[in-house]
Amino acid sequence: MQGTAFWFFITAVVFVIIGMAWGIFMAITGDHLHAPAHAHLNLIGWVTMALFGVYYHLVPAAGESRLATIHYAVATLGVLLIVPGIVMVNEGAGEGLAKAGSVLTILSMLVFLWIVISTRGKTA
Ligand code: HEM
Ligand code: HEM
Repeated sequence: MQGTAFWFFITAVVFVIIGMAWGIFMAITGDHLHAPAHAHLNLIGWVTMALFGVYYHLVPAAGESRLATIHYAVATLGVLLIVPGIVMVNEGAGEGLAKAGSVLTILSMLVFLWIVISTRGKTA
C-alpha cells in the first residue's frame, strides 16, 4: 500500500488509537459527556477515512490525481475540526468549530463522490 491509500490508512489508524484511548478513559472515569465526540472521531476519523483508503488501494489511478491530495487534506482537516468542535458544543462553548468541521467533512465526501464517478471502470 502506498500513496494516497497509505496516507488515509495511517491517519485513520492514528485517529482510532486516540479514539480508543479516549473510550477507555471515559469507561474508567464514568464520564461519558464526550461520547459523541469520541463516536465521530472513530466513525469519521477511522471508519470513513479507512474506507477512503480502501478505495484508493483498489483504484490506484484515483490516488494519482491532485484532487486526491486535496481530498486527503480536506478530510483530515475536517476530523481535526469537527471532533474538538463537538467537545466545545457539549461544553456549551460555541458551535463555530463544529460547523466548520461539518462543512469540511461533507465537502470531503462530495470530492470523493466526484473521484468515484470520474474513475468509473478503472481498476488495478
Ligand atoms: C477501546 C475501544 C473503545 C472503548 C473503550 C469505547 C468506549 C466507549 C464509551 C465508554 C462510550 C460511552 C457509552 C455511553 O455513554 O453510552 C462510547 C460511545 C460510543 N463509541 Fe466507543 N469505545 C471504543 C471504540 C469505539 C470504536 C472503534 C467506535 C467506532 C468505530 C466507537 C463508537 C462509539 C459510538 C458510536 C458511541 C456512541 C454511542 C451512543 O451515543 O449511543 N467506539 N464508547
Ligand atoms: C458532517 C458529518 C457529520 C455530522 C455533522 C454529524 C452530526 C451528528 C449529530 C448532530 C448527532 C447527534 C448527536 C447527539 O445527539 O448528541 C450525530 C449522531 C451520530 N452520528 Fe453523526 N454526523 C456526521 C457524520 C457521521 C458519520 C460519517 C457517521 C458514521 C460513519 C456518523 C454516525 C453517528 C452516530 C452513530 C450517531 C449516534 C451516536 C451519538 O449520539 O454520538 N455521523 N451525528
